[in-house]
Amino acid sequence: MNNSKKFYVATPIYYVNDIPHIGHMYTTLACDMLSRFMRLDGVDVKFITGTDEHGQKVEKAAMNAGKDPQEFVDTVSQNFRDLASFMRFTHTDFVRTTEPRHVKAAQHLWNVLRERDEIYLGEYAGWYSVRDETFHQESELIDGKAPTGADVEWVTEPSYFFRLSKWQDRLLEFYHANPDFIAPQTRRNEVLRFVEGGLHDLSVSRTSFKWGIPVPNDPKHIMYVWLDALTFYLTALEYPDQSTDFTEFWANSLLVVGKDILRFQSVIWPAFLMAAGLPLPTRVFVHGWWTRDGEKISKSLGNAIDPIQLVETYGHDPVRYFFLREVPFGNDGDFSEPALIGRLNSDLANSYGNLVQRVLSFIAKACGGIVPTPDELTSQDQALLSQADDILPTLRENIEKQTFHKVIEHIWHIIAEANRYVDEQKPWALKTENPTRMGTILYVLSETIRQIAILTQPIVPEASARILDQLAIPHDRRTFAHLEIALIPGITLPLPEGVFPRWVEEGK
Ligand code: MSP
Repeated sequence: MNNSKKFYVATPIYYVNDIPHIGHMYTTLACDMLSRFMRLDGVDVKFITGTDEHGQKVEKAAMNAGKDPQEFVDTVSQNFRDLASFMRFTHTDFVRTTEPRHVKAAQHLWNVLRERDEIYLGEYAGWYSVRDETFHQESELIDGKAPTGADVEWVTEPSYFFRLSKWQDRLLEFYHANPDFIAPQTRRNEVLRFVEGGLHDLSVSRTSFKWGIPVPNDPKHIMYVWLDALTFYLTALEYPDQSTDFTEFWANSLLVVGKDILRFQSVIWPAFLMAAGLPLPTRVFVHGWWTRDGEKISKSLGNAIDPIQLVETYGHDPVRYFFLREVPFGNDGDFSEPALIGRLNSDLANSYGNLVQRVLSFIAKACGGIVPTPDELTSQDQALLSQADDILPTLRENIEKQTFHKVIEHIWHIIAEANRYVDEQKPWALKTENPTRMGTILYVLSETIRQIAILTQPIVPEASARILDQLAIPHDRRTFAHLEIALIPGITLPLPEGVFPRWVEEGK
């Protein structure tokens, strides 16, 4: 995936019926980590997020809030935008489905599908879940509810249909020819089984409410909110323009989605694209769901966690680290404050923070803050240096597979090795007896820390920047291309200060 120098990654766009919680922050965080990594690796990244603002669910939420839908979506969309900037995410675009550029893209896609006879007029009679914005077959209902537990209502109305059934075989062929299109494998298998089970034509317009994009030439109908929403992937590429940007970024694209919406991005969206004669994205990665203290996060339980509060309490880096490290990307995870504090204290304060602190404060004390000149290197010195020297290809491989937790594990393994090296080499014991050897050890350690801090930038950007500042590394020497340019002996370092304070519970 990395051969090209352009890369496109998108989160789903968030429904504006609710305030953002950690589940929403999570998808964007994962994409942010990936984007930062790729940029440091010299890739030109488009990172797209945004808000999904039409449909019955949002219209109802506006009504409940006693607001006009446009006024309502303006406010809630701004909350999501504010969250993304508060989190310091590095997205390059924020698409709102109420923007003219998006309406234009969605209506254009509609027209193309209609011209190609992929959409026809009929009548829908069936079940609809407003909460999931999903049509359901009678056979899918469980105790009269949607499989997600959402209420369903009987809907009879004239509707346009998309010929989804027609694409079943071509979708299956595509999945077989592209075994990495859907990841992880369990999700791919789920999709294969679902498509093999047969596809029904999909109702793609509604007439019983108004809050949506009008169907071109038949404005009594508004477009089904998922057809509208999925088009945002192209809006961000200025569709219907199909410039080089479109071709080059889309040809190297990743859609990161939660497991609840897997069918939309891996079945319906590819079918729309095939039907419109457009290329498909490269990959859909499906992540799991977060619960809180073992319970589903929901408005009715009132247990949603506000990511802003969390960051205000623990800081940006610990929150990022926890969510990226706690569970393998793709699995479900459980959030609890003790688990976050545990990670903060063990992996950040005791492990990474301690390594940096002990080495830099020792250089400050024993060498007057000057990076020592190394003498001959022992095999242990070389072993530690080569760990950091050799790690980038492994990290790249894991980034390409979206196994982000493994990226972290590999880097933290070097941190553990470096701490072990300090304990074994005991530089403090050599100060009078063998200052040259002490200098070599401190040089090996500070060079290792430099490389680690370059590599941890996508995970804990702020602390990494502070560590690199303390090593006097100029801002333009912090990309992966600079991993090989070793620390210059003889430079004077600024006074060191701790980067990962331990979290101590009040009263302890
Ligand atoms: N608007 C649609 C997506 C349209 S994309 C063309 C939507 N929005 S959503 O706001 O309900 O969900 C957006 C994303 O947040 C989904 O990927 C969903 O999986 C994720 N999460 C929402 N709650 C979550 C958790 N509790 N845990 C992890 N992610 C969850 O679906």
